[in-house]
Amino acid sequence: MTIKNNYPNGECPDCYENIPDNASHGDGCSNCGHVFYSSGSKFTFIDLCAGIGGFRIGLQALGGECVYTAEWNKFARYTYETNFGGTVEGHDINEIIPSEVPDHDILTCGFPCVSFSNAGAKKGFEDPRTEVFWSTMDIVAEKRPKIVIFENVRGVLKYRDIIEQSFNERGYDLHTELLVSKDFGVPQNRVRAFLVGIDRSLNISEQFQFPGTGLFGNSYPSRTLGDILQGTLGNGIEDKYEVSDKRWGTMQEHKARHANKGNGYGFQLKTATEVAPTIQHRYYKDGSDCLIDDGVGRNPRRLTPREVARVMGYSDEYAIPVSDTQAYMQFGNAVCPPVVESLGRQIVPLI
Ligand SMILES: C[S@@+](CC[C@H](N)C(=O)[O-])C[C@H]1O[C@@H](n2cnc3c(N)ncnc32)[C@H](O)[C@@H]1O
Repeated sequence: MTIKNNYPNGECPDCYENIPDNASHGDGCSNCGHVFYSSGSKFTFIDLCAGIGGFRIGLQALGGECVYTAEWNKFARYTYETNFGGTVEGHDINEIIPSEVPDHDILTCGFPCVSFSNAGAKKGFEDPRTEVFWSTMDIVAEKRPKIVIFENVRGVLKYRDIIEQSFNERGYDLHTELLVSKDFGVPQNRVRAFLVGIDRSLNISEQFQFPGTGLFGNSYPSRTLGDILQGTLGNGIEDKYEVSDKRWGTMQEHKARHANKGNGYGFQLKTATEVAPTIQHRYYKDGSDCLIDDGVGRNPRRLTPREVARVMGYSDEYAIPVSDTQAYMQFGNAVCPPVVESLGRQIVPLI
């Protein structure tokens, strides 16, 4: 990958100027001076519950080198390996022997959110799927990364006390914040909790601030769907993405039924001037989808996988080697690389 490919849409993350094809590590943006980094030079990290590598894209853009990856879903691993090369080393995180994980500066983990999400059973830490959190904390205790970054749905913050205690017991301070992707140049209203554990012995905890609140306050221009849509039905978008008459009828009935009960459940119809609501891993399966009104006098349509990639902040260089269904699931589960990169810019100078 060239430097340009490390950045969403091949653009400078600060000013959106196109990065020249021949830009190399350490070059500054000709417009705003932002320094571009290649991977493998400034710090190391590991990518747990890696999915399709949202953390990896964001941290590689800052000069990080990924030294270990774990992901158990074979389709996600296929997408990951297609884009980053190599082989995903770890499969089930609960089976990892912590001492066998390579040393690293930053540990990232997007542990499963279903136990904390509105859509899931909300069993919190009683849900056996949260075992991944504890297995990850065992790796933290053994490998002592300088920084730990978790990302999850906002519901996880209901369990902040349990999480903070587990960090404190291991000698880490915990910082938490909700970050909204649309504040980072991504046309999606995706609110996610970011949990940052900092090794107390480094004495850097007090200097850390989440992006948007400090010196490096983010300066992303806001984007709307119009900036990322690939076209309209009949003009660049295949007919298969149009909602069929039958399905459209059912979706409208479903929405009306819920509206009568006083709740807003159902599809969300958006135009090019708006941003997408949160793209879920069940996109186009559960009726609460983001649909697009192209304004061409046809039924609304769903987003294409490439458009979903774009509303998640993934560049067009990012390959989508799986079916539409898998792609929706993978991007809907993922973390937005521009948000990770912005967070990383607050962390990397401290370590
Ligand atoms: C919320 S997604 C994180 C996605 C990731 N941050 C990204 O950018 O694509 C959670 C991921 O954890 C994986 N996962 C869940 N339990 C796991 C386990 N025990 N071992 C390895 N991976 C696991 C899931 O397959 C899923 O890809």
